[in-house]
Amino acid sequence: MRSKVRAGIVGVGVGIPEPVLTNHDLEQRIDTSDEWIVTRTGIRERRVAPPDVATSDLAAQAAHQALQNAGRGAEEVDLIVVATATPDMPWPSTACLVQAKIGAVRAAAFDLNAVCSGFVYALWMAAQAVETGAYRCVLVIGADILSRQVNWEDRSTCVLFGDGAGAVVLAPVEEPYGVLSGVLGADGTGAPLLNVPAGGTREPLSPEVIACKRHTIHMRGREVFKFAVTIMGEVSVQALEKAGIAPEEVNLFIPHQANIRIIQAAAERLNLPMERVFVNVDRYGNTSAASIPIAVYEAWEQGRLKKGDLVVVVGFGAGLTWGACVIRWAY
Ligand code: ACO
Repeated sequence: MRSKVRAGIVGVGVGIPEPVLTNHDLEQRIDTSDEWIVTRTGIRERRVAPPDVATSDLAAQAAHQALQNAGRGAEEVDLIVVATATPDMPWPSTACLVQAKIGAVRAAAFDLNAVCSGFVYALWMAAQAVETGAYRCVLVIGADILSRQVNWEDRSTCVLFGDGAGAVVLAPVEEPYGVLSGVLGADGTGAPLLNVPAGGTREPLSPEVIACKRHTIHMRGREVFKFAVTIMGEVSVQALEKAGIAPEEVNLFIPHQANIRIIQAAAERLNLPMERVFVNVDRYGNTSAASIPIAVYEAWEQGRLKKGDLVVVVGFGAGLTWGACVIRWAY
């Protein structure tokens, strides 16, 4: 009997802008302190894309590296999914711009917006597409330039976010490897907790909207924090149960990098020691849909992911949205 085909990650890559903005730099601009930011969030610095760099540039860089690491050519790609909340422009999709940039001439391309949960949403959807046999080489990219949506005068949000992109190549692999399970969720009644109110059809851009900064990120931080600490642990447990894996079997837990205190709370819920939790929020801040694939790339590059390892990726974000996948690392 042939073993079941699953979707496995066979290549990873990143597109990270070079300019670094430290907490000390922020101290010069707004009424904040390195001490406040580090204690409340764990963030020490973040990257900020230069003005001539757009989301598709970072996404294409990540895609190119992921394909190289997978030993695949761009012409082999049959689907590109870009998870982003900060597209280059309202339309066409950033995925189409990436398709042209990397020369993936055979690929269908579309964007998916689940904000910070976007990568997990895209990964789980793309995994289904590979498992059914419909697609054989899929680029799943998480890319965001939140520095363009931040109100740099609002100290309660501007210290939190950073820019970047990460990509994985998904292809058929045989059991026991690949994406074993996924759980996604949403609660649209929580939309007012975290949003960019203007710039869409509800409140189109106008001089008044811009003067009131309604085209920037608005967040009720404490409420988002409470939601995040609960949901990160819960959805991880659900995805593990679905895969038939016990939390103690997990080799590496790769959570969305928003706040070290949220990450620690989720690890506690799973009873996982912090040695088995990947953390880079100190160096990048919250890069939204890019945070998990950047962390996956760095974990792989540092030799913390080996063939056969059990990995949980878990995210939460605006929407509200959340999601987790359990993966047996395939390469
Ligand atoms: N520097 C100094 N003081 C500050 C700063 C700052 N940068 N920001 C806020 N403060 C002040 C506040 O004004 C407040 O002062 P007050 O008590 O005099 O009013 C005080 O610090 C405490 O503020 P809190 O909101 O209670 O601080 P809290 O401990 O909740 O931490 C934080 C705030 C870090 C934002 C936390 O609530 C959090 O991480 N929330 C989750 C945010 C998140 O993860 N968002 C991303 C979601 S993913 C997505 O989809 C984009």
